[in-house]
Amino acid sequence: MSESNTQVVDLDDPNLTTFDIVREGARRDGIEIVHYEPQYPAGSKGEKRMVRIVSFFFLLTGLASTAFVVAYIWWPWEYEMGANASKLYTPILGLTLGLALIGVGLGILTWGKKLLPHEIAIQDRHDGPSDPVERKITGETLKFIGSELSVARRPALKLSLLGLLPLGAAAAAPLIGGLIKDPHHPDILFKTGFAGATKENPIKLVRDDYTPIRPEEVSTGGQITVFPGIPGGVSNKYADSPTLLIHLREGDAEALRANLYEMNQGSPWQSYVAYSKICTHAGCPASLYEQQTNRLLCPCHQSQFLITDNAKPIFGPATRSLPMLPITVDKDGHFAATGDYKVPVGPAFWEKS
Ligand code: FES
Repeated sequence: MSESNTQVVDLDDPNLTTFDIVREGARRDGIEIVHYEPQYPAGSKGEKRMVRIVSFFFLLTGLASTAFVVAYIWWPWEYEMGANASKLYTPILGLTLGLALIGVGLGILTWGKKLLPHEIAIQDRHDGPSDPVERKITGETLKFIGSELSVARRPALKLSLLGLLPLGAAAAAPLIGGLIKDPHHPDILFKTGFAGATKENPIKLVRDDYTPIRPEEVSTGGQITVFPGIPGGVSNKYADSPTLLIHLREGDAEALRANLYEMNQGSPWQSYVAYSKICTHAGCPASLYEQQTNRLLCPCHQSQFLITDNAKPIFGPATRSLPMLPITVDKDGHFAATGDYKVPVGPAFWEKS
């Protein structure tokens, strides 16, 4: 239907429909509704078909995001490399999350395009606040819009909207899932692969091929990336453990010893020091070692850490020193850690409140 109305409407007329009041309110506010046309009569076959289609998309979203959460938490991940490992882990996450997002997108688009009425309104602009009568009319207008969007008279749609709840759970799955997934490692955010190391039972520092390192294998001014010498220590399961082992020149090692924080006392071994490689700003690998200035650079946002002063940040957005790993040389003559980092590695989320 196409409608136009220029007569003043008596708002006390009991025969007025909500739409009449809305149109009158719009007219008094300088807005002329010149065309208003529901796409389908209420309860018609066409409307029911569209409701079914929208419901299908929302239910698809619900199923796919539930599958995402279940797969994220309980599907064996490839990093474990055990008998139950599955190479399908990542594709399944992508497929289920993709379906969920496509479902919610198509559902909203179809709802807006096929179930909301066509309307053309022309508005004159005006200044100043509305008077009380107009505010009342606006209230009715909002109610009317609410009824157009309402799912109360479309129970199937209402039910299908429940499908959006698991989508919210899918957003939280990466954080919660990581914690549930490894029940033997409940302090996953606070401990690294060096967590089991003690002075009596140190954990060797190893290369990415699990070979141990002797002091003479790191030249003066040189550095090497090391990992915990434990099963899976080089895998993504211990992605928080990469460490930079640096051989300082004797003068620089002296400067470091003079500057050591109390918690770092005893952590270097002779002129060797080991720092977490995980940038304390946003977690990139901070591994560009500038030997002449003793700075460690993070390529992501250019934070710089001073190696001879506890790797404290001296430039860029990082605000926290890189944690230092306590090291020694074990009875086999290999580098080893005598404990875990004294503070959590990586971005300082736990310090924020
Ligand atoms: S992640 Fe290193 S500076 Fe931002």
